[in-house]
Amino acid sequence: MKEFSFSTRIFFGEGALERLRKLEDKHVMIVTDRFMASMGVPDKVASYLTRCQVAVFDGVVPDPPIEVVAAGVQALQACGAEAMIAVGGGSTIDAAKAIRAVAKQTLQIDTDRWECFAIPTTSGTGSEVTEYAVITDRAKGIKYPLDSKALRPPVAILDPQLTVSAPASVTADAGMDVLTHAMEAYVSKGANDFSDALCEKAISLVFRFLPLAYQDGTNLLAREKLHNASCMAGLAFNSAGLGLTHGMAHAVGGKLHIAHGRINAMLLPHIISFNANLTGVRNGEYTLAAKKYQRIAKTLDLPAPSVRLGVSNLLREVEHLNRELKIPSTLKAWGATPEQVKEVEQEIISAALADVTTSSNPRPATAECVEAILHRLSGF
Ligand SMILES: NC(=O)c1ccc[n+]([C@@H]2O[C@H](COP(=O)([O-])OP(=O)(O)OC[C@H]3O[C@@H](n4cnc5c(N)ncnc54)[C@H](O)[C@@H]3O)[C@@H](O)[C@H]2O)c1
Ligand SMILES: [Fe+2]
Repeated sequence: MKEFSFSTRIFFGEGALERLRKLEDKHVMIVTDRFMASMGVPDKVASYLTRCQVAVFDGVVPDPPIEVVAAGVQALQACGAEAMIAVGGGSTIDAAKAIRAVAKQTLQIDTDRWECFAIPTTSGTGSEVTEYAVITDRAKGIKYPLDSKALRPPVAILDPQLTVSAPASVTADAGMDVLTHAMEAYVSKGANDFSDALCEKAISLVFRFLPLAYQDGTNLLAREKLHNASCMAGLAFNSAGLGLTHGMAHAVGGKLHIAHGRINAMLLPHIISFNANLTGVRNGEYTLAAKKYQRIAKTLDLPAPSVRLGVSNLLREVEHLNRELKIPSTLKAWGATPEQVKEVEQEIISAALADVTTSSNPRPATAECVEAILHRLSGF
């Protein structure tokens, strides 16, 4: 039995922030990061909360560590919050989800009944609708995807205007995270008709609109389409799961501090090849993943008269998009040294195999496979 459900109410398009006006007579904590605060984003959000007492916690940092969650819980207790609004990238929304969960456990506050809003300012993680929150243990250099239905934000507000200020590199990284979510969910062991429909739409939107938003961040149509794609891919992977790209991205990203979307983008072509397994084909028996990659190629109007051609043309298209977005193709080109990679290689392999997202990859991954992919990714 499989399940497709989503409990998050999604408000999108022009004027979506108006939904915040429904919050009345509450102590509200806005969770964000310092950069967003310096741009006046929490003030903009607070301008809709005229009948509430508002406190701002702006201590989130990218790839939020446990310490940020602890500081957020303290801030929440200090301001007597009864509702929460996360406004920022995936790091902010994930931190807010974890703060809410930890406050429930440690302060015995019934945060499940709270009105909580997730307002993404990047089009990337889909965190506004997922039951995941990725928290980093800095001491161990490990990223832990927490997974619980209780983490799903009750309300998501998709206002593309808030993403216009994202610089090109953030747009590129986050956009490639969307593509990776959709590509991985599409071939994952948990894929189903509902998630497939969302993945196909999200993939088409990313290929069409990510280059436009990257070239001109003020293109509001491109921003809107990417924002919707990000949310759709989030709904899809929340149901279908992810795969080895994310498993390895969490492991490599945790050790070498590469932005989540960027390392996903660098890994994606390697994992497509691994899953399609064209060299292992016997008697024309292609893997289901290979056939589904061919289907994506057809959706994108790429030549795909055979599975083999479909897979290779899709691969070429992903690599082309990476080049267009100036995403390096190897760890060497990213700036890592061979010594740096060698030092953490074994830890990366174990963390990738243990990562919860790896378990839904369509082709089982062994330590040898992960090592071989890591070597190809390294480029030394
Ligand atoms: N919860 C999930 O389901 C899920 C899924 C995938 C990834 N993640 C996690 O999400 C995090 C990545 O999130 P992200 O890619 O959104 O990046 P991010 O939240 O880490 O933000 C990256 C940078 O962009 C800045 N930024 C964000 N929005 C901006 C805007 N509109 N204008 C200018 N600057 C802006 C931030 O201040 C930050 O410096 C990682 O920790 C990753 O592991 C979570
Ligand atoms: Fe991701």
